[in-house]
Amino acid sequence: MHKPCFISFEGIDGAGKSTHIETIAQWWRAQSREVVLTREPGGTPLSEQLRQHLLHDAMDPLTEALLMFAARREHLVQVIEPALARQAVVLCDRFTDATFAYQGGGRGFDWATLEQLETMVQGLPEGNIRQPDLTVWFDLDPAIAAQRLANARMPDKFESQPQAFFEDVRAGYARRLQAQPQRFLKIDASQALPEVHEQVLSGLQRWWQAQGAKG
Ligand code: TMP
Repeated sequence: MHKPCFISFEGIDGAGKSTHIETIAQWWRAQSREVVLTREPGGTPLSEQLRQHLLHDAMDPLTEALLMFAARREHLVQVIEPALARQAVVLCDRFTDATFAYQGGGRGFDWATLEQLETMVQGLPEGNIRQPDLTVWFDLDPAIAAQRLANARMPDKFESQPQAFFEDVRAGYARRLQAQPQRFLKIDASQALPEVHEQVLSGLQRWWQAQGAKG
């Protein structure tokens, strides 16, 4: 029997999180674990369709928040919960903290309404709320992220937001960390790639050892 394990990866656009997810997948595979690599918004055919609208179409803030949670609901039911039930390791490129950071922090959408939606969408039969067991937050100054993004592909709706928007997104992540510090691993993403890589792997190993100690 393996412990089910749900890990999310977060950060402002340009923080570099996606580069590290495949290495973490390899770390788990080396321990003979099934790994499910997925992302939000997305992860199912319907949620990927919603992603296209969310990333490219202008819409009302409530519509945006509802569509993020609709995509998440589908993803949870179709992919995440079944994977956890068969004791896979789920590595998810963004999850619900992104909604609090981007829609709550960045857009200024009402935090309490997001919490209601979170309870509705991520509620479990025993009354708990499904959250990642570990959230790796790649924290980066938005000024540095903007420099990194300047050379990137055509920006989407979020990537083309001004730096001030990302200051607010970053504050949104910090607020989530403050509320639930036990599940966050905060990474200083301003360092060079090998150092960031080392922070992520050593943090993950420490966390996993602590899980074993608890069990
Ligand atoms: P990605 O480029 O890292 O795949 O993320 C897609 C974009 O969607 C990114 O700019 C953040 C944004 N986003 C939200 O605004 N709210 C959310 O809940 C999620 C999951 C992503």
